[in-house]
Amino acid sequence: MIQLDHVTYTYPQAKHPALSDISLEITESSLVAIVGPSGAGKSSLCALLAGFIPHHFHGILQGRALVHGQDIANTPLAELVTHVGYVFQNPFTQLSGAKLTTREEIAFGLENLGVPRLEMAERVDRVIELFSLRDIANRSPYEISGGEMQRVALASIFVMKPRVLVLDEPTAQLDPLGARQVFEAIRTLTNTQSVTVIIVEDKTEWIATFADRVITLHEGRVVLDGSPDAVLTSPLLAEIGIRVSHYTQAARAASRHRLWPSELALPTTLDKAIDGFKRARKKYENLG
Ligand SMILES: Nc1ncnc2c1ncn2[C@@H]1O[C@H](COP(=O)(O)OP(=O)(O)O)[C@@H](O)[C@H]1O
Ligand SMILES: [Mg+2]
Repeated sequence: MIQLDHVTYTYPQAKHPALSDISLEITESSLVAIVGPSGAGKSSLCALLAGFIPHHFHGILQGRALVHGQDIANTPLAELVTHVGYVFQNPFTQLSGAKLTTREEIAFGLENLGVPRLEMAERVDRVIELFSLRDIANRSPYEISGGEMQRVALASIFVMKPRVLVLDEPTAQLDPLGARQVFEAIRTLTNTQSVTVIIVEDKTEWIATFADRVITLHEGRVVLDGSPDAVLTSPLLAEIGIRVSHYTQAARAASRHRLWPSELALPTTLDKAIDGFKRARKKYENLG
């Protein structure tokens, strides 16, 4: 689906590459989270997958980057956008400004492609259901909440049927409720549609619950790549300045006092933390 072979990219005039010798493969229908400190290269990786690098940002691209077997560097952006949908951090940026209702906003891209009316209506209805937007379908896209607006942005990209979705911090500007709505929409998408999602996200508990895989970038390089449990409990995260969840921190501190079951991995979610502490208590009670 996505294959990067020794990809190194340097922005014009930059002293250091933003992406350094990145090799990875992403299979179809997976939900991959990208984490890393500020400046690690997360947005640059997204820009590459969407083709903005090297089609908008010139610079120097070395190595090979393929989407669906097509070389990103040699495929026109107009064709790449049919494979890869890109959703901006701020949903406001994504709105066309030309439409009066969210339904029309979602249909906008299909209109531009000249999709027949009936098919258009069917596809728009489907994504409105998928993203739970029925209640706001006839409202102005500018008079809805941030979480709703981001779901409209997602819907207006997803209606174009890309097989890969790239989301660069889609919940960074949302309140907790809005963020949860967006996460739920993404989860529905990956559970029910065969779409690959690559999401830059720093809410580790959410990543732990939903992602299939976590890739950690640091100074343009992949430093960790694996299951959420393995990556999110790695001591390396704190070293490179990534926030580790309170559950992991609490269990790590407890394990220093032998208050965490030695056979259990450190937890990444509240449920796993509770489970581990219950088990530890049982052991303790049996000893006493
Ligand atoms: N348009 C640009 N021109 C030049 N350098 C850039 C540009 N965008 C990002 N960079 C640099 O590339 C590196 C990676 O940035 P970025 O991909 O935005 O990281 P992140 O999204 O992880 O914060 C940083 O050193 C940043 O300063
Ligand atoms: Mg970024």
